[in-house]
Amino acid sequence: MKKLLLFFLAATLIGCQTETPRQIERGLIADKAMVVSAHPLASEAGKNIMEAGGNAVDAAIATQFALAVVYPGAGNIGGGGFMISRMANGETAALDYREKAPLAGGRDMYLDENGEVIAGSSRRGHLAAGVPGTVAGLVKAHEKYGKLSWDKLVQPAIDLAANGWALTAREASGLNRNRKAFIEYNTVQPEFFLAEEGKEWKEGDIVSIPELAKTLQRIRDNGHDGFYKGETADLIVAEMKRGDGMISLEDLASYEAQWREPIKGKYRGYDFISMPPPSSGGIAIAQLFQAVEPFDLSQMGFHSPEAIHLITEAERRVYADRATHLGDADFYPVPSEGLRDSEYIADKMSNFNPEMASKSADISAGQPAPLESEETTHLSVIDPDGNAVSVTTTLNGGMGSKVFVGGAGFLLNNEMDDFSIKPGVPNMFGLVGGVANAIEPGKRMLSSMTPTIVEKDGELYMVVGTPGGSTIITSVFQTILNVIDFDMGMQEAVEAPRFHHQWLPDLLQIENRAKFDSLTLAKLESMGHQLRVRGNTGRVDAILVLPDGRLEGGADPRGDDTASGF
Ligand code: GLY
Repeated sequence: MKKLLLFFLAATLIGCQTETPRQIERGLIADKAMVVSAHPLASEAGKNIMEAGGNAVDAAIATQFALAVVYPGAGNIGGGGFMISRMANGETAALDYREKAPLAGGRDMYLDENGEVIAGSSRRGHLAAGVPGTVAGLVKAHEKYGKLSWDKLVQPAIDLAANGWALTAREASGLNRNRKAFIEYNTVQPEFFLAEEGKEWKEGDIVSIPELAKTLQRIRDNGHDGFYKGETADLIVAEMKRGDGMISLEDLASYEAQWREPIKGKYRGYDFISMPPPSSGGIAIAQLFQAVEPFDLSQMGFHSPEAIHLITEAERRVYADRATHLGDADFYPVPSEGLRDSEYIADKMSNFNPEMASKSADISAGQPAPLESEETTHLSVIDPDGNAVSVTTTLNGGMGSKVFVGGAGFLLNNEMDDFSIKPGVPNMFGLVGGVANAIEPGKRMLSSMTPTIVEKDGELYMVVGTPGGSTIITSVFQTILNVIDFDMGMQEAVEAPRFHHQWLPDLLQIENRAKFDSLTLAKLESMGHQLRVRGNTGRVDAILVLPDGRLEGGADPRGDDTASGF
């Protein structure tokens, strides 16, 4: 009798625990359409396009052109990116408009006569720039899916560049921080971004870039050729000649964006669609999902030592593969299927010890490197018909190579640093690589950008992505886990603190130590993890389709990121 009473008591208590409903914290809710991007004016530009009858691809194009004006640190026409789309009829596509190595480039272009890396040469200045792909990509996306005319999509950005816009506090301090580098690396001073001598930019200051407005007008009027031929191409090549860069008229004239086969996979019954090589993102999150799926993360609990340890060990193993096997599949035989094979992943996780951290050095040797600014940007869009677009685009580092094309008003990327400039030498994100990602003329550099779309029961469920260099993959992965395994709303999942392991350096990087439980961190250290506190990790912009069909935005408060919808 006593035993029975205890059983009922225990059952009631357990029942109480499991039935307590979690309060889901939500972000902006819209009835049918939404854009989330790094800047309020860019999100608004995309929303306006959908209100005018444009679809998600139109809105993504207008948002990206607007970002190229108001968010110069990463929004761009002088860089490149990836677009994942899922149309309302279920058709999916992956568009690659990643930059390419110039035809005059080659494996040793950043090495001196002794074979040593010339410090900084792949990161700043004219030689750091790959052949830009953004305009080619946006034109190609529009040709296939666009609904409104091209000129309508470019015009909002022209208006912003010509009439000016008010700087946010964050943007003002970014320009002030870069003043010295702008002066040092430019052959024609970018007066529009240099505050008057002795003064600093501040929030609310109005900036305009008439030269960029003219460049955008050429793109509006001539599409692809408005950038890759004629006056814009001439200005780029003249800039290269003044600054000893490599990009030629032939590089520009021959640049083409490419449709690729998306990476698709499953996780706990959800389907995901992500970017194939030259991104490492799609393959890496496919590997990560498979590595953690056999474990009950939800039961372990959000940010419990067990969950962080498991995710970290999966990340460690996946980034080791990235360094060795991934590169531009047009140039290198990337074993895409083999890397995602379930037996292969199970084998990789077979030495996972739930009590103890592995050592990256046991897998292969490497050297740690300092982290630098990780400026890329992401935008997520869903339109009233249920078409969805996920775009991540980049100049690489903040303000790219710091070089503006004289007379054209836009920054060039420093994407060449995403190649492995010498085997084993880390890039600005501390990532190492080998022959798979060595420089070859016309080859695309390996990326971590992971624009992703998730389906539930065959229907659109989530659009997600982020900047953050090497942390992009782990931020996208953890944001999806936050929703699927830890029952969070979109905004809550985006705001949650993140952690990151990339095999080398062998460090478990913790964002904002104060937001992690100190006992959890102590436990992780006792398991053998070497912790390193880092700054903001990613700026995830995402949209979740709620059970009633409305949309919830997740706009990352780590930046000025804003959801805009109707
Ligand atoms: N430039 C960052 C990336 O593509 O991964």
